[in-house]
Amino acid sequence: MEAINSSDLEKAIQLLKQNELVAIPTETVYGLAANAFSESAIEKIYQVKQRPKNNPLIVHVHTLNQLNIVAKNISSDALKLARFFWPGPLTLVLDKADGISTSITAGKDTVALRMPNHELTLELLKALEFPLVAPSANRSNHISPTCAEHVRISLGSESPFILDGGSCQNGIESTIVQVNSSVTKILRLGAITKEAIEKVLGREIEGVKESEKEIVSPGMFKKHYSPTTKFVASSSLLEELKKYNGNKIGVLFFKEKPLIDDSITYRILSPQGSMEEASKNLYAYMHELDALGLAIILAEYLPDTGLGKSINDRLKRASSN
Ligand code: TXA
Ligand code: MG
Repeated sequence: MEAINSSDLEKAIQLLKQNELVAIPTETVYGLAANAFSESAIEKIYQVKQRPKNNPLIVHVHTLNQLNIVAKNISSDALKLARFFWPGPLTLVLDKADGISTSITAGKDTVALRMPNHELTLELLKALEFPLVAPSANRSNHISPTCAEHVRISLGSESPFILDGGSCQNGIESTIVQVNSSVTKILRLGAITKEAIEKVLGREIEGVKESEKEIVSPGMFKKHYSPTTKFVASSSLLEELKKYNGNKIGVLFFKEKPLIDDSITYRILSPQGSMEEASKNLYAYMHELDALGLAIILAEYLPDTGLGKSINDRLKRASSN
């Protein structure tokens, strides 16, 4: 990460206080941030992202003391998870506090919140008297941005001031868990595995079924995180490759390229076979291949365990049409 540039930080603070948007770095992906207590600032997020109004936003805080401003009826399980994983890539869905606007929650009585683990953004949050709402800083349904350049490309002329904090460590969105009085459920798999959460809670928890996803967590539309190039994820990549012979093909391999045609354009997510490295590179490589004017991008599914499940979820979403 680059050294903290205090004039950029100061600029971000001023803009946010004036209810303007700022793109902020987090350990997962860049967020498009706004004052959580300003209706006009919240409205700008939906406009700039072209985000459907039924898709709620995540509130970002810097201390556990802010929990009570954002949520109520906080269960002991929720506290346990917050204490263990924050700051970090875990988003909790809790009953919303009365002062939280329904334009953040898309009319729901629950609210999503997390404490991001990025030095610059924690500094920023500490300097402000309000929490920040921040969805990923890309246009709706596009690939999430993992560096400042991705934000500029996705938001184009609508791109706000970007607080540049380098490339995101995790490179994949936070894991979202609902832990309020009615439900304990994983709504979105992300940078933290189901097993890690279960270990902290000391019991198994359920994941949300694919068929329920759009109802429970409206952001989980089947088609999401998509490159503009046709994208197909497969577990039998060599078979898939044969189908597209003769086209300009791009391929995302997990750890190695098999002995095939040397003319294909490809990226290897992690030559060492590390899921962490693969998740860090995933969106960056999707962005790179997407910019090459290829006929199709093929991607190899990872082993479906741990973080591999989260990555496979994104590959699957990118390839549905
Ligand atoms: O890693 C992340 O979570 C990044 C960084 C910037 O923090 N943010 C992010 O935001 O991925 P976004 O808006 O792209 O995804 C937020 C997801 C959406 O799928 C939304 O439906 C879900 O969170 N969500 C928000 N509030 C919710 C609620 N009250 N109940 C259920 N799902 C909710
Ligand atoms: Mg998003």
